[in-house]
Amino acid sequence: MAVGGRVIGRAVHALEDVDSTQTELARLAAGGAPEGTVVVARHQRSGRGRRGRAWWDAPDDSLLVSVLLRPPVPTAQAPQLSLVGALAVTDALRGEGGVEARIRWPNDVLLGSRKICGVLPEAVSTGDGMVQHVILGIGLNVNQESFPPELSGRATSLRLATGRRHEPARLLESLLDALDRRYWAWRAGSFVALRHECRERSSTLGRPVTLPDGAIGTAVDMDADGALLVRTDDGALRRVVSGEPERGAEHAAGH
Ligand code: BTN
Repeated sequence: MAVGGRVIGRAVHALEDVDSTQTELARLAAGGAPEGTVVVARHQRSGRGRRGRAWWDAPDDSLLVSVLLRPPVPTAQAPQLSLVGALAVTDALRGEGGVEARIRWPNDVLLGSRKICGVLPEAVSTGDGMVQHVILGIGLNVNQESFPPELSGRATSLRLATGRRHEPARLLESLLDALDRRYWAWRAGSFVALRHECRERSSTLGRPVTLPDGAIGTAVDMDADGALLVRTDDGALRRVVSGEPERGAEHAAGH
């Protein structure tokens, strides 16, 4: 499918049922698929999230998307694409559902305290530390009316927020439009081009976080490269460049 002028989504492979859209797109990437190629599925048998977690979906109720990106940047910058993707998701939710979602650094989108979307950037490097490609996975809960017991209480959907069904295909178009716009802004101006809106839409800033080494502090800002800046309780300013800080009690974990 070609969409005039837009790079992201110029080829869309729409599948019924797949192991993971990430895996399927990795196969296409290895075969030389161009930047902007998208795989979308109605159901995944082995959807995956960060840290090796499974990504649950109810067939037909979720948007399950992977996007192939080939930015000419050092691999160390690839995690920034989580924020690029999350920002685009908040744009699409605002446009389609009129809902104001927040970004839980670095890769979740929340409505209130509940997770509606997770973003997964999987990068492959060249030998010299540059990105060969990134497969940006986005799992968005669209029409679920309920969740399995292990997720209920911390997951939500667009339908639960608006009280009506949403057309996944329309939402996909909005998302690809938004991602195209945000991605090229990032390519032209690095994370700095998106920092203001990421700050404004952040659910993490101003909240307590626990760092991987156990230090406790407050998330105070996002650095020019998207790193989270945390003022620890001993007064130090620490940078968290990727991964997930543990959240304070009010930051329930996502699925
Ligand atoms: C997370 O929050 O842990 C990230 C979840 C990413 C899920 C999406 S669904 C589409 C794509 N295919 C996958 O197997 N995972 C990503």
